[in-house]
Amino acid sequence: MKKISIINLKGGVAKTMSAINIAHILATVHKKRVLIIDLDKQGNTTKLFDKHNKGKYSVADLITNRCSIDEVILKTDYENLDLIPANMDLIEANFKVMLDVSIPQQFRLKKHLDEIEEEYDYCIIDNPPDINASVINALVASDDVLIPIKVDKFAFDGMKELITQINNAKVSNPNLNIKGCFITLFNKNDVNIQGEEFLKASEEYKMFNTHIRRTVKADESTFANAPILEYSKRCAAAKDYKALVEEYLSKE
Ligand SMILES: Nc1ncnc2c1ncn2[C@@H]1O[C@H](COP(=O)(O)OP(=O)(O)O)[C@@H](O)[C@H]1O
Ligand SMILES: [Mg+2]
Repeated sequence: MKKISIINLKGGVAKTMSAINIAHILATVHKKRVLIIDLDKQGNTTKLFDKHNKGKYSVADLITNRCSIDEVILKTDYENLDLIPANMDLIEANFKVMLDVSIPQQFRLKKHLDEIEEEYDYCIIDNPPDINASVINALVASDDVLIPIKVDKFAFDGMKELITQINNAKVSNPNLNIKGCFITLFNKNDVNIQGEEFLKASEEYKMFNTHIRRTVKADESTFANAPILEYSKRCAAAKDYKALVEEYLSKE
């Protein structure tokens, strides 16, 4: 099972949109067995799959060892796609993990995921715009990191801190690999076009060729509680997410 963290310390850069659609495309187009983990207390991924507070347990129970991994996994409406849900309990759970030094704090998620190593091909983790105990657990459990970037004046805010956290996680997880950044919410205007050129030319960040275009269908898909490919197969973002997954798979 390949574990991929979708992360950026900024909110509103399409982390959740990307996690949901990468997971859904891997499961439905590529027929992979996929687990998506919601690690944001807001539970947007969980809500899209209509599983908010529907299961007995959430990821908060998992990282505080109040349930087993089998007990927390929910089936979604899509074949090959399962979910570990999140809710506000994650706030308290993160404190508990921080305070409980009796067992290693950063390996909790990894330990649980090791148990289902053979059951899935991919695990996609939707991280919050934050660094906390569960995010550190995600980085320690992950093989790859994907960073969605929205081109604006503040695009790189928090990037240095994120790279520092990723490097810290490498102490516990030497295999962790920043697979690359990709541009989201792309508009065909000067700022985006020049921003993209600048990023692709810069040595500092590895960039995917594929960008994800901005489309009103994306917002609509969240109201429809559906991944973009189910909501509007032919819209720009659906095509772009399919291309992004292809590009990711070609780089494996
Ligand atoms: N390709 C897109 N086109 C238009 N709107 C998008 C696109 N991707 C995401 N959005 C919208 O942008 C907002 C932020 O996306 P979200 O995935 O929740 O970001 P994050 O998880 O980084 O906070 C949401 O309202 C979402 O519907
Ligand atoms: Mg989000």
